[in-house]
Amino acid sequence: MAAGTGQAGNVTEAQILDALRPIDDPDFHRSIVDLGFIKNLRIEGGRVAFSIELTTPACPVKEKFQQAAHQAVMALPGVEHVDIEMTAQTRGSRGPDRAQVLPHVRNVVAVASGKGGVGKSTVAANLALALSRTGATVGLMDCDVYGPSVPLMLGVSGPPQATTDQKLIPKQGHGLKLMSIGFLADTPVIWRGPMVHSLIRTFLTDVLWGELDYLIVDMPPGTGDAALTLTQLAPLSGAVIVSTPQEVALIDARKGLQMFQRVQVPVLGIVENMSYFVCPSCDTKHTIFGEGGCERVAREMGVPLIGRIPLQPDVVSAGDGGKPTVISAPDSPAGRAFTDLAGIVARKLSLLNSEAPPVLDTNITWVNTSKEPGGR
Ligand SMILES: Nc1ncnc2c1ncn2[C@@H]1O[C@H](COP(=O)(O)OP(=O)(O)OP(=O)(O)O)[C@@H](O)[C@H]1O
Ligand SMILES: [Mg+2]
Repeated sequence: MAAGTGQAGNVTEAQILDALRPIDDPDFHRSIVDLGFIKNLRIEGGRVAFSIELTTPACPVKEKFQQAAHQAVMALPGVEHVDIEMTAQTRGSRGPDRAQVLPHVRNVVAVASGKGGVGKSTVAANLALALSRTGATVGLMDCDVYGPSVPLMLGVSGPPQATTDQKLIPKQGHGLKLMSIGFLADTPVIWRGPMVHSLIRTFLTDVLWGELDYLIVDMPPGTGDAALTLTQLAPLSGAVIVSTPQEVALIDARKGLQMFQRVQVPVLGIVENMSYFVCPSCDTKHTIFGEGGCERVAREMGVPLIGRIPLQPDVVSAGDGGKPTVISAPDSPAGRAFTDLAGIVARKLSLLNSEAPPVLDTNITWVNTSKEPGGR
């Protein structure tokens, strides 16, 4: 923490920190003072200014922190004005084997499902946009070789530009950096194992993603070759499993979950998509595809249920029209559910990263591309 100017008027740096100390971060269960969130404390007479530096700009309790801090410091005798700047330094997961692949990406999050058509791409696109709306720098990588959705969902098409040394420049859409197999091939391609492997490798090593707080990966469907390749090659910080409440989807969701657990990628949680329908005329919630399915699987598998996205008809037109719900209808029930999900994902990553060693050792070469399950 920057040293304050000490005694001025009759308030001191120590008094200010003591006043702020009771404010706990609900995830870390520690005081924001002890966590080192308070930066650049300045005292000039009765005027106090400082920053609260969060571990992610997507922190859902940002406003609460600001209000509580303002109230606590204003209550001190001698304080006339408090100026608080909310900032964020997104923490990243950096292990030694992550240095070579996506070295400037702080968090790589896989959005996966066992079964097709459950809303994986919809969740991936809206999650990326919701994170970006908080001020984070975000990329969306569409690795669904069989049915890329990002061009349609984000309303962006055409081949990406390449540099003279054959690096691909991501396209831009709604503030996101984007890469999709759909930008590269107009006609459907029959992907064979080795081609999938090399394409995914290209996306991870030959795309100029630059500095990103979050890279959201729309995973290839299922638990086949393409999905497995990606879990082995990408330095995944965590995975989000999307399912619908029906048993047929849940069976496959379990398989998806197990795939990540086998390669020791933390599963951040399950998202229940098309969870319920809110009747527009009577406001009643209908659980069309059954109730409690994802919750049960989450409990069985020891992971949290981190979101319930309602079935909302305009989610379809939003996706098909290139303006996902988070930007076309942010205050709708689904829009809010996606935004809440982004907050939870960001917080879970912050927590995980506080447990991970904060290393980015560029001297260590990442070589192992054929790790056995469990070898991560
Ligand atoms: N919450 C929702 N409410 C209404 N429609 C939805 C919802 N989520 C997704 N959809 C629609 O369901 C269809 C399938 O969604 P999406 O393409 O995201 O699934 P997917 O799992 O990525 O499918 P695929 O396996 O083909 O890649 C799309 O038309 C999408 O707009
Ligand atoms: Mg898809």
